[in-house]
Amino acid sequence: MEKFDLIIKGGTCILESGPKKRDLAVKDGKIHVLDKSEDLSATKIIDANGKHIFPGLIDTQVHFREPGLTHKEDLASGSLAAVLGGVTTYLEMPNTTPPTTTKEAILEKISLAKSKSLANFGFYMGGTAENLEELKKAKDIEGCCGIKIFLGSSTGNLLLYKRDKLEEIFKNTTGIIALHSENEEMLVQRKSVRDNATSAHEHANWRNVETALTSTKRVIEIAKECKRKVHVLHITSKDEIDFLAENKEHCTVEVTPQHLTLSSPECYDKLGTYAQMNPPIRTADHTAGLWGALKKGVVDVIGSDHAPHTKEEKDQGYPNSPSGMPGVQTIFPILLHHVEMGNLTILEVAKYLCFNPAKLYGLNKGHLEEGFDADITIVDMNKTVEIKNEDMASKCGWTPFNGYTYKGEINYTIVGGNIVVDHGQVSKEKFGKPISINQRKF
Ligand code: DOR
Repeated sequence: MEKFDLIIKGGTCILESGPKKRDLAVKDGKIHVLDKSEDLSATKIIDANGKHIFPGLIDTQVHFREPGLTHKEDLASGSLAAVLGGVTTYLEMPNTTPPTTTKEAILEKISLAKSKSLANFGFYMGGTAENLEELKKAKDIEGCCGIKIFLGSSTGNLLLYKRDKLEEIFKNTTGIIALHSENEEMLVQRKSVRDNATSAHEHANWRNVETALTSTKRVIEIAKECKRKVHVLHITSKDEIDFLAENKEHCTVEVTPQHLTLSSPECYDKLGTYAQMNPPIRTADHTAGLWGALKKGVVDVIGSDHAPHTKEEKDQGYPNSPSGMPGVQTIFPILLHHVEMGNLTILEVAKYLCFNPAKLYGLNKGHLEEGFDADITIVDMNKTVEIKNEDMASKCGWTPFNGYTYKGEINYTIVGGNIVVDHGQVSKEKFGKPISINQRKF
């Protein structure tokens, strides 16, 4: 009789073909699909009757602030927030202090994460005007998920928008190039809007739709010329969506739960600077445009852009308050909230948080199929849960979604076959591992 490490019996698995009852087993960190007739034995058996089983969720955009800004977050607190929210893998951004712009800096993050991270991890290398030789190495580093370029300045000092440098990077590197797309020259020209503002409502006026659209048009044109597909992060406007829909062969597209859920001016009325992020939350017609994009297949992944800042920092008042809001613990709950509202199906949630991220980044994850990594999230769709500030594990201790409810209590978060969260109880051992890129299917 074959002995497994873990058996999960009786649950409804979310497969790409649709939800299906299927028993799963785990051995040496990999998934086995069980034939009902098999003789079952395991160190641990989970009865998942009546539960939904998702492939472990992948958050493709987080800022965990280590090294350098660990008063806001670190790899321990960020990964705790992740697993409590059902996220088993996160891809982390390079705007730490110092920024992650060399192989050495990536290796340092990986070494820290190995001892501190509850979830699996990948780190982006930041693109600068000077680090092409380092960027060329990115694709061969286990635990490096790609290159990130800030075309407009945001938190930190990473910035690169000069055409010749972009061309150099596009032509001489391989793998994912993820872009923060805002037009730096326009941001600088329009800075008086920000400087004279007395409320966060002006944030979306300073960083207006034109600022995002002109940058996105320009960078896609460069990508086209270089025959290089790029990944455009956190798209916020219907205008960009219309443009990107015409250019899907040149790009993949991310949106965030906050841009799908909040809109201006209500979000600024209610949350003030806590709703301030880059690129900004815009009016409801843009939010509707993003939903349309999901339905039309323009969007490939949803990422949280988890960007924690402390309440003290946010309370400094606009424009001194930093941009960004936390989200890694609420990305899945908020999408489940939208399932309850009839805006998304369960299968679409898995598409944007599991199937597509795994394919886009080339991970052996995101599917409850034979031989895939045993990252698994088990939820009880019959239980209603309220999102509360006090339940947030992020060091920042707040969420823009305080008071939202969703159906789908997270019962287990399983990382590489190890139960990391069991009904809110978190394992002491850190099971997070660096991602490996196999083959990208986008
Ligand atoms: O609002 C944002 N905050 N947008 C970004 O691009 C960066 C992030 C941060 O790191 O705070």
